[in-house]
Amino acid sequence: HVAVLDFGSQYTQLIVRRVRELGYFAKLYATEDFPNIGKPGAIILSGGPRSTSELDAPDIDFEALKGFGVPVLGVCYGMQLLNIKFGGSVASSNRREYGPAALTTVTDEALYEGVSQNSQVWMSHSDTVKILPDCAKVIATNQHGTPVSLKWGNSFYGIQFHPEVTHSHQGIRILHNFLLQCGELAPFHIEDFKRELIENIRTTVGSKQVVCGVSGGVDSTVLAVLLNEAGVNVRAIFVDQGLMRKNEGDEVRNNFHRMGVEIETVDASERFLTALSGVDDPEKKRKIIGELFVDVFWDAVGNAEMLAQGTLYPDVIESASNAKSKASKIKTHHNRVDRILELQEQGKVLEPLAELFKDEVRALGTSLGIPQDILMRHPFPGPGLAVRCPGIITEDRLEIIRECDAIFISRLKEYGWYDKVWQAYAGLVPVKTVGVKGDERSYEWAITLRAVVSEDAMTADWVELPSALLRETSNRILNEVKGVNRVLYDISTKPPASIEWE
Ligand code: XMP
Repeated sequence: HVAVLDFGSQYTQLIVRRVRELGYFAKLYATEDFPNIGKPGAIILSGGPRSTSELDAPDIDFEALKGFGVPVLGVCYGMQLLNIKFGGSVASSNRREYGPAALTTVTDEALYEGVSQNSQVWMSHSDTVKILPDCAKVIATNQHGTPVSLKWGNSFYGIQFHPEVTHSHQGIRILHNFLLQCGELAPFHIEDFKRELIENIRTTVGSKQVVCGVSGGVDSTVLAVLLNEAGVNVRAIFVDQGLMRKNEGDEVRNNFHRMGVEIETVDASERFLTALSGVDDPEKKRKIIGELFVDVFWDAVGNAEMLAQGTLYPDVIESASNAKSKASKIKTHHNRVDRILELQEQGKVLEPLAELFKDEVRALGTSLGIPQDILMRHPFPGPGLAVRCPGIITEDRLEIIRECDAIFISRLKEYGWYDKVWQAYAGLVPVKTVGVKGDERSYEWAITLRAVVSEDAMTADWVELPSALLRETSNRILNEVKGVNRVLYDISTKPPASIEWE
């Protein structure tokens, strides 16, 4: 495998991801665990936020590193550290170089095979290498002639830029070139990954009881099935907050039943709707739902010994950056509230999917035998229909949304569009307008339909659905759903709009 040592860069996981994309098995290790990293065929030292000149800067045993006898690639901090280890030095600087640079001189070294001159690379560092040891050779420089890539001896490589981010246009190629220097490397198979996850879960959990919340969504489903497969003592709890779509509770129960996992349902719809009664501020609604969810969930849990969460890698990055940036607190995501953080500090939270991206979770789900229709379900937000019901939430309004949504989703499936969009739904526009129904004047609600495509939910574009599909959906809603006399189609991109209405 390829061992990636984490020196703390926000991109470290991305290195693992890229190596896996290239078809090799990669694993992430904390520097504290070094040299217990198994028998790697290659080692990558990640970047990191610290400076090698700091007294307690992250370090590793160089003799042990050499002892592995395999090619090593140091990225950013990793390169600086290697340069020091080989007897060179690093100049610390207060100025940060952040952004694009051009690889102006690349040598014919294998690392740069097929990489063009002036290829854009992405920089994010403050320190730079200063004195080069005798065994070092500069194998690439930037447009100012500054060395940005070194080779020490025959099998130690260093790059100052970040090959793992897409802004480094040929970064993947450079990583691949490095891996090609490493002889036979173990291929990445999700099956192996699954086996390893299951082993880890067994070791971590032992005979303790683990609880997990299930929502019917892909991540929590894969998590529950994985725990079940690991044979640990697991309780899967489904909280019905009364904000689910039509028949959703039954479908979730049936789905789990099909997969041999029995779930416990807590029907808390009355508690939620009562708490939400009369509230129309979006942030207040989210807060109420988030807090009540935690209360209801913990009431049901009792004093379980461990909690498992279906956190994915993008959630990890997002909450890390949330902590740093005020701007990202646009909406409160409710799976990271204080009580969970407390548990996390006590080491009682298990997040087995935290290294995975969505498509890898789906692949894992497939290898666990989870049916495709479940794995291909659209994402559904934790606060449920509340975020699709601007203004106050009433059972009547939710019922209207449920009926319209069911019609829209069934039409999308009928026309073969469900799998082509990232997410689609019907929401209520809390405005009554005038229309005619039969011979009479009507004064009823408007419904909005939204269908978007997206890579990662950070940005999204609305979908040009066929007019026949929209027409049929609209006709059916206007004929079948009481209380609605107008159907709108949402043609807003994100940004500036968001995918949900609240
Ligand atoms: P927005 O509306 O922010 O949504 O563009 C982006 C994605 O996140 C989902 N979403 C949530 N998911 N809890 C969740 O688990 C939430 O509070 C939440 N809010 C939005 C939304 O459905 C979309 O996929």
